[in-house]
Amino acid sequence: MPHPPKKPQGQVTRGKTARNRLRPVDRFFLMYDPGLLTRADGEFSRARFVDLGYGDEPFTTLETAARFRQIAPTLKILGVEIEPERVARALPLADDLTDFRLGGFNLPLRPGETVRAIRAFNVLRQYEEKDVLPAWEQMARGVLPGGLLVEGTSNPFGSILTANILRRVAGENFSWRLEALVFYTNFRLGFDPAEFQTILPKNLIHRVIPGEAIFRFFDDWKTACAESAHQKAFGLRPWFAASARRLAGRGYQICLQKRWLNRGWLVWQSPQV
Ligand SMILES: C[S@@+](CC[C@H](N)C(=O)[O-])C[C@H]1O[C@@H](n2cnc3c(N)ncnc32)[C@H](O)[C@@H]1O
Repeated sequence: MPHPPKKPQGQVTRGKTARNRLRPVDRFFLMYDPGLLTRADGEFSRARFVDLGYGDEPFTTLETAARFRQIAPTLKILGVEIEPERVARALPLADDLTDFRLGGFNLPLRPGETVRAIRAFNVLRQYEEKDVLPAWEQMARGVLPGGLLVEGTSNPFGSILTANILRRVAGENFSWRLEALVFYTNFRLGFDPAEFQTILPKNLIHRVIPGEAIFRFFDDWKTACAESAHQKAFGLRPWFAASARRLAGRGYQICLQKRWLNRGWLVWQSPQV
């Protein structure tokens, strides 16, 4: 007997998207955990990458497919949307490896299908804070242990973004470990930590208040910027990198490799937020 489709969990929200808006997120995956995109052991051999909430047009899903297939030529990619007309618009662009389905946080998987990673970008920002943990939990149900959820927010052009990096923990309780919190800028808007506060993921955006760990983090980052302001003379990138090193000096676990800092990525590992 065929399985009846599940009722999509979530709500239809504005579908604004843009070409190349999520290119930095694709690059993040390719730098952070390329092995997750290529691994083909056991259940990973048929595991998909899911772009959840691709919006009015499936630009981001198709672009991600092209980028990831440079290292994983047979990777299956599934675009999921909760708004039926957006799915109908995308379906003519589907092919053997790229599919589009109506669905929600409870992923529309068919029997035997598995997921290696989910990107949910600019989706939860239109929800309430209380909706975040249940949404994460529902998404976890479809993902293989070791898989990732990259859930975050960008500005309209993708020139700055922030994201939760969640790693699926093995076990029946469908939980994630917050492995990192990341901040990206291409420096076109300059560099000011305060800019990131306005595009924090939903679980944090209302928590930049005294007493909260994320408030302390931004306070420390702003201090780190002030202390390294002399680096501005060499440009925004050296200043950004110097502020990251100062943050690490204050005890934050920051990735200090040049490949992150020179490209405008602040990767805060094991954040206690
Ligand atoms: C602002 S658009 C983001 C498009 C794209 N991800 C981007 O960043 O450019 C958000 C989309 O998420 C969809 N959405 C919201 N909740 C969803 C859910 N629970 N499951 C699937 N899609 C959802 C909305 O219908 C909307 O099209």
